[in-house]
Amino acid sequence: MPEEASSTFDLIVIGAGPGGYVAAIRAAQLGFKTACVEREYLGGTCLNVGCIPSKAMLDSSEKVAMAKHDFAKHGIKGGDGVSVDLPVMLKRKDGVVKGLTDGVGFLFKKNKVESVRGQGKITAVDTVEVKSADGSTRSLKAKRILIATGSAPIEIPGLKFDEKFICSSTGALSIPEIPKRMIVVGAGYIGLELGSVWNRLGTEVIVVEFLDRALVNMDREMAAALQKQLEKQGLKFRFSTGAEKAEVKDGQVHVTLKSGEQRSTEVVDRVLVAVGRKPVTDGLGLQELGVAQDKKGYVLVDPNTFETSVKGVYAIGDVIGGLQLAHKAEEEGVAAVEGMHGGTSHVNYHACPSVIYTHPELAQVGLSEEDAAKRGPIKVGKFPLIANGRARGMGETDGFVKVIGDAQTDRLLGVHILAPQASSMIAEATLAIEFASSVEDVARAFHAHPTLPEALKEAALGADKRAIHV
Ligand code: FAD
Ligand code: NAI
Repeated sequence: MPEEASSTFDLIVIGAGPGGYVAAIRAAQLGFKTACVEREYLGGTCLNVGCIPSKAMLDSSEKVAMAKHDFAKHGIKGGDGVSVDLPVMLKRKDGVVKGLTDGVGFLFKKNKVESVRGQGKITAVDTVEVKSADGSTRSLKAKRILIATGSAPIEIPGLKFDEKFICSSTGALSIPEIPKRMIVVGAGYIGLELGSVWNRLGTEVIVVEFLDRALVNMDREMAAALQKQLEKQGLKFRFSTGAEKAEVKDGQVHVTLKSGEQRSTEVVDRVLVAVGRKPVTDGLGLQELGVAQDKKGYVLVDPNTFETSVKGVYAIGDVIGGLQLAHKAEEEGVAAVEGMHGGTSHVNYHACPSVIYTHPELAQVGLSEEDAAKRGPIKVGKFPLIANGRARGMGETDGFVKVIGDAQTDRLLGVHILAPQASSMIAEATLAIEFASSVEDVARAFHAHPTLPEALKEAALGADKRAIHV
């Protein structure tokens, strides 16, 4: 194959996920001649097989659950007869993905980011070789290189992904028929979100989890409250249990589970393995170049500049570890590029929100109650949705808001919300944490009535024992 002409850039970004594509656009805005190399799909995990398709399926399946279980109480008849057209639901999800990934291509053109398709390998501190699907190669030169190659699902040795019977999240987003029974391995973000999707569509879902609780990184009380809601919806949990192996026989999966020394077998139609994600650095040439990685393969960076151990080579997003969230990758991408341009780069991880998009949703920002209590004396205010006028009007009263403050200084330390639309409600709390606000600030601020965020104001008032509506 003939080699194309070399090209020279100010910055080459490898990976067009939310970290990489946002960084490339910001770099172009700052006047950098920028190329973004992508081997699979524009938009990365998030747009193609992550945040967006999972939320599309969560939104569709939530409508099914509402029609089946909630319409009647609003005086709407016909819920009993609701049926699911799965091919249409999956097609809608694929359409949402396509619209957004096409949008990334449009934004690249608009901002004059050169989109280079193919596998990128860093062959020298200023060179990226790109091998495209047709076997041709192109050598790109740049002053700086930004690695944004993301993460991939972790496989359990005895449960190899075939994406038909034993699925990662990618396969579980496109199952063509509603399974009767499913085992979900891992009670983390993906297990609870995609477990909810299939449970709502009619699958019997059993979640098995190694640890003795779900959502180990969330506030314990909030995670337990969400688990209770999910159990009411039909999800079954088995804690202190791991999946050892799975064998496909006659179109069904025989899964060996291990709990202590006890082994048992479950026969199901599908298994979803969601036990975390690992950094993607295959074929990147990091070892040859001397880019330092930790034991798990995450690329090590200077926390202020995002520069790796090799000068001029930077990394951001899932591939550097920490919270594996799209908005974290985006903020790091922007900070890294602005730093390269001579600005100050800073990412305030303390103000990074996390959301589990179940029903109700669970959102948090700042410290959990356990972690806050380790720092010193705290005060805690809680407000139940049952006492919130809007929640009652909506008929969605399961959940509560918890506000944690420093008992001595009144500084707001953490906010936790279990509520419908908690993902939107957390934005106010995120801003408050970012602005280092006091609990009093949140308690004093106007909150339109009647709205769900009034529950946040009341929880803040409650931290000083002056909530009005409880
Ligand atoms: P990625 O999005 O993984 O992108 C990396 C890109 O690099 C990929 O497109 C890959 O093809 C490309 N690449 C890798 N190696 C090379 C190479 N050598 N050459 C060229 N290209 C290469 N996060 C949230 O914040 N909210 C959510 O609701 C949410 N939901 C999720 C649901 C699921 C099912 C999953 C799996 C993840 C979810 N996440 C969510 C996490 C989120 O998707 C990731 O944190 C985010 O995509 C990380 O962005 P990134 O840019 O670092 O990497
Ligand atoms: P996770 O880290 O959230 O949860 C994995 C769970 O699997 C843990 O509870 C762990 O103890 C358990 N586990 C590990 N090995 C096990 C075994 N052998 N048997 C049983 N349980 C086992 O990982 P998950 O759900 O795969 O998600 C990966 C990441 O993707 C998340 O950490 C998150 O960063 C991101 N994500 C974010 C979403 C969001 O923002 N709403 C949604 C989906 C994913």
